[in-house]
Amino acid sequence: MISFQVNSESASFAGDSNTPLLWVLRDHLHLTGTKFGCGIGQCGACTVHIDGRAQRSCITPIAAIEGRSITTIEGLAGAGGELHPVQQAWLEIDVPQCGYCQAGQIMATVDFLKTYPKPTDQNINDDMTNICRCGTYVRIRSAIHRAAELTGAGE
Ligand code: FES
Ligand code: FES
Repeated sequence: MISFQVNSESASFAGDSNTPLLWVLRDHLHLTGTKFGCGIGQCGACTVHIDGRAQRSCITPIAAIEGRSITTIEGLAGAGGELHPVQQAWLEIDVPQCGYCQAGQIMATVDFLKTYPKPTDQNINDDMTNICRCGTYVRIRSAIHRAAELTGAGE
């Protein structure tokens, strides 16, 4: 039995310890906001936070999650439902097209802004490696800058 926390609640998984975290989240815990894209760690659609850092859940075996704390897109807003500044920025800039990659993009951005609170375009180009098949990169970049402003305003 592997025990861990998801969005501040206790969770456990008694199946195959090689099962990817992505499938435990989606199929076992029914948290389907985290998406399956490539399954090989390339696209970032499956990005969640593990102990606060963005990780690709499709290549993370559940065995590596014992005792750790996971945050998914469902757990990003505050307990009262107030949106995270990155979510607010995404809405303001109207980023998504089909939306499939966007939960991963948002989770990656939240972690990215911890490293680069005032990012340059070059920081974004170098470090934001999530793929968007709809090509929303220009709006993603605008939304990251807006999120940095919103985050800075709250400090
Ligand atoms: S589904 Fe995990 S990186 Fe693509
Ligand atoms: S919005 Fe469609 S894949 Fe990114």
